[in-house]
Amino acid sequence: MSGPNGMLYGGDEIGALVFDPGHHSLRVGYAQEDTPKADIPAVVGVGPATHIPEPEEKVPDGNVTQSGKVIRSPSEHHPALFTEAVWTTRPAREKLAELLFEKYQAPAFFLVKSAVLAAFANGKSTALVVDAGASQTSAVPVIDGYALVNAAVRSPIGGDHLAAQAKHMLSNMHIQMLPIYSIQSKEVIRERERGRYTLKTLPAGLTHSWQQYMLKRQYEDFCHCVAQISESQYEERQAASVPFTHYEFPGGYHQDFGPERFKLTDMRGGGRLRRGRAACAVGLRRGLRRPGQHPGLAGALAKDLAARAPSSHRLKTTAAPNPTERRFAAWIGGSILASIGSFQQMWISSQEYDEGGKGQLERKCP
Ligand SMILES: Nc1ncnc2c1ncn2[C@@H]1O[C@H](COP(=O)(O)OP(=O)(O)OP(=O)(O)O)[C@@H](O)[C@H]1O
Ligand SMILES: [Mg+2]
Repeated sequence: MSGPNGMLYGGDEIGALVFDPGHHSLRVGYAQEDTPKADIPAVVGVGPATHIPEPEEKVPDGNVTQSGKVIRSPSEHHPALFTEAVWTTRPAREKLAELLFEKYQAPAFFLVKSAVLAAFANGKSTALVVDAGASQTSAVPVIDGYALVNAAVRSPIGGDHLAAQAKHMLSNMHIQMLPIYSIQSKEVIRERERGRYTLKTLPAGLTHSWQQYMLKRQYEDFCHCVAQISESQYEERQAASVPFTHYEFPGGYHQDFGPERFKLTDMRGGGRLRRGRAACAVGLRRGLRRPGQHPGLAGALAKDLAARAPSSHRLKTTAAPNPTERRFAAWIGGSILASIGSFQQMWISSQEYDEGGKGQLERKCP
């Protein structure tokens, strides 16, 4: 039952927490809110011995992501809803339940497929959810709120692959990506002129993992600003007509990028993705897409799907106009679900877990 500030669980009003873990980041926040409280980078490494000040990162609604503690409340007060991929293995799900109940003493726990939640966030219970993440791109058919696990397909091509391609391409073009924290000052120079900059004396104790992490973020930024997806296979003539976009590197070097914008994304092996999408189109009644932020992806998907779906299928495509809503779609779906009154009886309570053990998971969260 929902109360004014949260929901009633065992007679107490408490706020459920929603977790959407990914390879790039973990989204976490309170159910019923519009956006997660934090989008925490999913990195394992050793930070620098000395603190290097960084401008605070903001998620677009103004919430500030913080390193350190984000939710300052004891875990035993909050039911926890986690999103999961359709191919999450049974031992992994059981381990998570064990952690939540036995280590964190959560009062209740629930697992939902992220594709189902992304569909909910878009107001649909039947959809084909295409999710371009960091480690992979997947297409999962959802029918009446259930993900069709056997029909789901994935390709290991996602944002991480793209960042690696950007690194490769820039090194072939002899463009140096200097770490932004290493630049003391730079001069204003003409386009394609060699950068003139002075380097900072870096503090001792900068770890390899931290430096790699910072550099990867820079390649990602380059991809976000420059990459463009072509509606068809890469073709030299068409690529030549793409509008140029300007990019300045940390060392001050700057230039326009044109055909490279398509080239970057063409290395993604569109063929594999295309086959995946075709396999999914079967059994669909209505289509939903959740394209990533890359310009052109929506158009390319629409064209492909229309060409491959049987003509009897009416395809309707949806994508939240706002990139925040798109990136947080699964989290937002979780936030909605966990705040619905009739959902409250679905939670696996700690009591049920104590009595029925991990078997509860298969029964209550199929
Ligand atoms: N504005 C943007 N333009 C293009 N790509 C973006 C943008 N913002 C984030 N990305 C990319 O999206 C990817 C992260 O997407 P998402 O948060 O869906 O991944 P994830 O769920 O953490 O990872 P996975 O689904 O692989 O486990 C990263 O590779 C990131 O570089
Ligand atoms: Mg993801």
